[in-house]
Amino acid sequence: MMPSTPPPSAAEYWETRYRESGRSWSGRVNAALEREIAGVAPGTALDLGSGEGGDALWLARQGWAVTAVDIAPSALALGAAAQHPDDDITWVAADLAEWMPPTQYDLVTSCFLHSSVELPREAILRRAAGAVAPGGILLIVGHAGVPHWAHADAHDEGGHDPVELPTPDDVYATLFTDSALVPAEWTVLTKALIDRVGVGPDGSTGPIADSVLKLRRR
Ligand SMILES: C[S@@+](CC[C@H](N)C(=O)[O-])C[C@H]1O[C@@H](n2cnc3c(N)ncnc32)[C@H](O)[C@@H]1O
Repeated sequence: MMPSTPPPSAAEYWETRYRESGRSWSGRVNAALEREIAGVAPGTALDLGSGEGGDALWLARQGWAVTAVDIAPSALALGAAAQHPDDDITWVAADLAEWMPPTQYDLVTSCFLHSSVELPREAILRRAAGAVAPGGILLIVGHAGVPHWAHADAHDEGGHDPVELPTPDDVYATLFTDSALVPAEWTVLTKALIDRVGVGPDGSTGPIADSVLKLRRR
């Protein structure tokens, strides 16, 4: 029997993808982030799995000082290339499986941190919650369903297999499982499935649901 090829590491997979394909998403802010954060007084923000920086760039233009972390340097380079001189963004190439936030932030956001290769998402999200400053906001947005154009063996809107689609309740429970975090220290601002029109890789549109969890740390 032929030995099977080991799967690529997360770093190999994502860097190769961005290096070969260039811009992989719309480059625009995610609808859920814009809806949930527009009007919030800006401060410091941490964007986990920022990709090419659509959210980080939007946050910076709202006055946030943003730290954008992604495992793929080529993704961050796309974001940096789109940055205005006045945008306050620090681009950090790091594996969130190991990266420790060096401080706390007024906003910690993670939009569509899904991957078809190894990703300890739950541990990353728990660590992310710990990096929210008192009075700050944690926003976690994910896919909640497979869009109509995706086939079982095909790719979802993000271009990867829809491997992990927890509900907002699942994500909320995850934060407080095997964790030093306690629910009493958090106010739930949004915990919902929100329908929107998604755009497929070929430009086609169709309904898709986002899982949105927004908490404020007391
Ligand atoms: C589906 S994309 C979402 C990108 C962006 N947040 C957005 O909404 O457009 C997932 C992102 O997570 C990043 N990522 C995956 N695993 C990672 C890890 N272990 N550490 C840091 N970033 C990771 C990928 O490079 C990719 O940019």
